[in-house]
Order: sequence, then C-alpha cells, then structure tokens
Amino acid sequence: MKKEKLIKKYDKQVKMYESNSKNQRLNGLRNRIIKNAYGKVLEVGVGAGANFPYYDRNSVEIMGVDFSSEMIKSAKRSASIYQVTAEFIQEDIDELILEENTFDCIVSTLSLCSYPDPIKILNKFNKWCRKDGSVLLLEHGLSSNPFLSFTQKVIDPLHTKISGCHCNRNINKMLEESSLKIEHIERYWSEIVYLILAKPSKIDSV
Ligand SMILES: C[S@@+](CC[C@H](N)C(=O)[O-])C[C@H]1O[C@@H](n2cnc3c(N)ncnc32)[C@H](O)[C@@H]1O
Repeated sequence: MKKEKLIKKYDKQVKMYESNSKNQRLNGLRNRIIKNAYGKVLEVGVGAGANFPYYDRNSVEIMGVDFSSEMIKSAKRSASIYQVTAEFIQEDIDELILEENTFDCIVSTLSLCSYPDPIKILNKFNKWCRKDGSVLLLEHGLSSNPFLSFTQKVIDPLHTKISGCHCNRNINKMLEESSLKIEHIERYWSEIVYLILAKPSKIDSV
C-alpha cells in the first residue's frame, strides 16, 4: 500500500485507537511491558498514546514517533492527561535518522505489523538503543495454533487492505533475523500476542 494512503488510513482510525486504549485485557499487557521502561524512551508508532498511563512518569522522558498527524495530536492529549514528559516527531520510521546509542529503552506496541520491512526497523532499534538498554515489544503475529495461523495467512491480504496492518507476521523469525537478542518472551491469546524483552547486540569498539 502506498505510504500516503496508509497515513490517511491511520489518520481516520484515531478514534478507534482512542477507544481501544480502554481495552482492559490489552491494558494488562501494556502495563506488564511498559513498567520496565526507564530513562530516555523512544516509542515508535506511538498512536493515540495508549501506553502513557503505564509509564512511571517520574523516571521517563519519551520521544514519540508516528507518521500520522492525527495520531500525534491524540498522543499529545494523552501525554498531557497522564502528565508524562514527551516530545513528538511526525515522520516515517523507515526514513527516520537518529543518533546511535541514544535511548535507554525503545518501545513498540502493535506496530511492527504496519511496516513494509520490519526487520530493517528492528535493526534501527538495535542502533538507537544504548548498549545496556532494552527493547520492549508488545506485538501481534502468527499463532502457534495451526488452524488459526492458516486463517491468519488466508485473510492477511484483506486484513491489510482494511486496517493497514498485517496479521501474519512471524514475530519470532523476524527477531531472529534481526540484530536484537531476545532475553524474555511471553505469548498470550492462542499465542497471537507477544510480550518481548530484547537487548541490542553491539560490537565493542577498540
Ligand atoms: C496499529 S497502530 C498501534 C498504535 C499504538 N502503538 C498502540 O499500541 O495502540 C500503528 C501505529 O503506527 C503508526 N505507523 C505505521 N507505520 C508507520 C511508519 N512507517 N512510520 C511511523 N509511524 C507508523 C500508525 O500511524 C499507527 O499510529
């Protein structure tokens, strides 16, 4: 899908993401991963700021990135409601250039499904994250249940056309093919939803 079309699609979905942020079941998982965030945090595909209630506002400084202007507006409102220190960049993550080794934590929730080349984005996380930092992911992907994963593969073209996101991503394989190292993984809801704590792999300079 062309980038401009995808941005418009997400602009139009902002109300839906605002109401999804009240989903208690999902919020339990948001809390579980976001409570690990500290220091300088880069939140990619920040959406309507649904994770903001779960940050320890005394210990984080957030840089939120999203290419949808409507999502950024909504995230700014959420930052103000939950009193988190946050700045925002409206930019395509694919084109975003940031200094290496800058962030203590990189957060991505339900966003890897949207990128044309998610491994490239995971490798950017590896670069941007400090050596001792963490990459915190809450993502959805292929179930381990053969019937569900078959269905996810079959409906993916229609799903992507309607929502802008892929439902057939193989999250484990993507991470294995990236430069990140998985430290901890939990799976929920027929193993469709993944909570992942990953670490960057850095080559020591001499
Ligand atoms: C499925 S929503 C998830 C929003 C939020 N992270 C959450 O947990 O509710 C994906 C978000 O990523 C943004 N997005 C998708 N592709 C992007 C890209 N290439 N660059 C920047 N933002 C992108 C969309 O605008 C949208 O806000």
